Amino acid sequence: MALQNGELSKELLDSQAHIWNHIFSFINSMSLKCAIQLQIPDIIHRHGAPMLLSELVKALAINQQRTPFVYRLMRILVHSDFFVKQSVSTPVGNDEEGGEGYLLTPASRLLLKEEPLSVRPLLLAMLDPMLMDPWQHLSKWFQNDDVTPFHTTHGRMFWDLAGQEPKLNQFFNEGMASDARLVTSVILKDCGGIFEGLDSIVDVGGGSGTVAEAIAKAFPNIRCISFDLPHVVDGLVGSKNLSFVGGDMFEVIPRADAVLLKWILHDWSDEECMKILKQCRKAIPSKENGGKLIIMDMVVKVYKGHNELLETQYFFDMLMMTLVTGRERSEKDWAKLFFDAGFADYKITPILGLRSLIEVYP
Ligand SMILES: C[S@@+](CC[C@H](N)C(=O)[O-])C[C@H]1O[C@@H](n2cnc3c(N)ncnc32)[C@H](O)[C@@H]1O
Repeated sequence: MALQNGELSKELLDSQAHIWNHIFSFINSMSLKCAIQLQIPDIIHRHGAPMLLSELVKALAINQQRTPFVYRLMRILVHSDFFVKQSVSTPVGNDEEGGEGYLLTPASRLLLKEEPLSVRPLLLAMLDPMLMDPWQHLSKWFQNDDVTPFHTTHGRMFWDLAGQEPKLNQFFNEGMASDARLVTSVILKDCGGIFEGLDSIVDVGGGSGTVAEAIAKAFPNIRCISFDLPHVVDGLVGSKNLSFVGGDMFEVIPRADAVLLKWILHDWSDEECMKILKQCRKAIPSKENGGKLIIMDMVVKVYKGHNELLETQYFFDMLMMTLVTGRERSEKDWAKLFFDAGFADYKITPILGLRSLIEVYP
């Protein structure tokens, strides 16, 4: 790239800056993870007022000589909207602090340990080295025959390793359960109607049962089954209208009026989804008798003027490619899957942020 005039050198340097930004984008995730591991949001929350850097450092379980480094960590997290700075009415800090203290934002409030809908367990799961290492093998995977980059890294498929590694099983299920709590709270508040008229429901791939438990509690007349692989449901105890069943959704799914699939189909390729959907079809009655699938998953689309939303969907799509055999789908992709699997109709309700509620009828 020869430099001929000012225009070209500007383009060259802009490109360099763009590349730098992408080289170091991982620092956003890692800085946030560090703050969560140090419990910075929890400490600021407990303080109950704008917290000076000196106060924050004193409250942190760290080497106290790290003060200037904490400032630098906080600066990038203020930049990425996880904290804000606000004047402290009676400043006790030094000039360097400028009489300003840190406060939480809505995003960091959602990362508090004690927040019932906290996203913290999902963050810690997704940024665990076991799930991050496969990214180092992505290009190698493009050149080999392994099923996934996860397999290239760990020598096994994700679900097999989860069955053998209690640590992976535990942090993954905790991450999923945290997401399930958040999603369930929205569903039950804003569209509990989807469960009306059902006598029974089976949550396929229901993990540790968070969703089924909430439905069982909100609708005591609905018989709920949380169905997952044996190593996930082993030892879990149900209640009057909730039971846990272990099994393989590719072989048979317990019968119920409705099958719930939250964050399941995006884990699998079209061919695998077809097999799962066919088992789902066998498990439910006809539409006239109330049979339906309730899917909670992403419907990929372009959100005009919201670049971050589209980017996040592409992140998830790459994540599905790297960890498992799945993908994120557009409405056209979903419709093809449903009709190919023998379903007659579907309805998409975009009520779950980046994800949607999709009802599918036989
Ligand atoms: C992405 S997690 C979603 C968990 C839960 N539905 C949620 O959203 O919180 C996928 C779930 O599918 C389960 N799963 C994977 N393979 C399965 C199979 N063959 N049969 C039944 N469940 C399976 C996993 O154990 C895991 O709990």
